[in-house]
Amino acid sequence: MKKPRLALIGATGIVGRTTLDVFKEWNTPLAELRLFSSSDSSGTVIEFRGKQLLVEELVDIPQDVDTAILATSSKLSELWAPKLKHAGITVIDHSSRFRMQDDVPLVIPEINADTLKNHHGLIANPNCSASVILLPLFGLHRRFGIEQIVVSTYQSVSGAGKAAIEELEQQLADKSAKPSVFPVPIAGNVIPRIGSFNKEGVSGEEEKIGDEIRKILRAPEIHVLSTTVRVPVFVGHSASVTVRIAERASIEEIYDSLTGIAGLVFEQNHFRTPLEIAGKQEVFVSRIRQDGSHPEWIQFWVVGDNLRKGAASNAVQILQELFS
Ligand SMILES: NC(=O)c1ccc[n+]([C@@H]2O[C@H](COP(=O)([O-])OP(=O)(O)OC[C@H]3O[C@@H](n4cnc5c(N)ncnc54)[C@H](OP(=O)(O)O)[C@@H]3O)[C@@H](O)[C@H]2O)c1
Repeated sequence: MKKPRLALIGATGIVGRTTLDVFKEWNTPLAELRLFSSSDSSGTVIEFRGKQLLVEELVDIPQDVDTAILATSSKLSELWAPKLKHAGITVIDHSSRFRMQDDVPLVIPEINADTLKNHHGLIANPNCSASVILLPLFGLHRRFGIEQIVVSTYQSVSGAGKAAIEELEQQLADKSAKPSVFPVPIAGNVIPRIGSFNKEGVSGEEEKIGDEIRKILRAPEIHVLSTTVRVPVFVGHSASVTVRIAERASIEEIYDSLTGIAGLVFEQNHFRTPLEIAGKQEVFVSRIRQDGSHPEWIQFWVVGDNLRKGAASNAVQILQELFS
């Protein structure tokens, strides 16, 4: 079987570092691994499988690679993804820049790995909250059809990168430390704004969640209302999700729709919290309730590691699918 010759771009960021952890834990076959960052971190040496790998500054198209994972900002993806693709390198992009483009598959392998067959050299990895919410939604949608979703998220600071983690650490140590990543202090606080607001007052993150759910479930008709909130948690995104299904179902049938989905752990009476699930690959669903007077409305609690299923491990799954 062919093994990837991979460039990991953004290797020194929180998603990049987690990708290296996933490679180690899953023993992912790699024929070549080159690490890239900005000039700030170039020269860093990272130990990987007994070798000392030097992080290089990304200045030109990496040679001798056939695949790149881009774990950098949307702006850098916009600049580099087309160049890499043009050079014949298949790109798996973590940023939001190309996710909604028709010719770019947006992939959660447990749901729509089939869309990888039609890729044109660029594949998008979904938003970290969308990834966590989508596995239970997939179970409900394929069995009953979903008409409407109302979701409130509780998103950890690591979702905003390594600088955001440092900001929470600083504010926990010194209450007077000024915010720079977030608009107001995050320690001891919650912030109901992730991304900028559009003219209707909807944040960028809220738009992404609706758009990406519809694209991945191939269900443009689903109406999604979301409120995305940053909370002072280091790792792990949680969400309270309310869903209106199209068919009448018993609570047992609803439970049944969530079993047998790879990567989803359904534990009705064991609610999980971010502290417990950080570092785990699976998404954890609990507290499923059906409204007594309107049984088509279902509520549940879901938690997943934004750096794992929400980012790094989903992309490594995509890589493995490409080379399987
Ligand atoms: N964090 C999450 O939970 C999550 C989840 C899903 C998707 N994403 C997306 O994944 C991407 C990476 O996020 P992150 O959280 O890992 O961010 P991060 O911790 O801030 O890391 C950013 C990485 O990009 C590198 N970089 C910056 N400028 C560069 C340049 N000019 N050339 C090459 N590399 C450069 C940085 O290198 P230096 O060390 O040199 O600065 C660093 O390695 C973003 O698009 C984000 O939206 C993140």
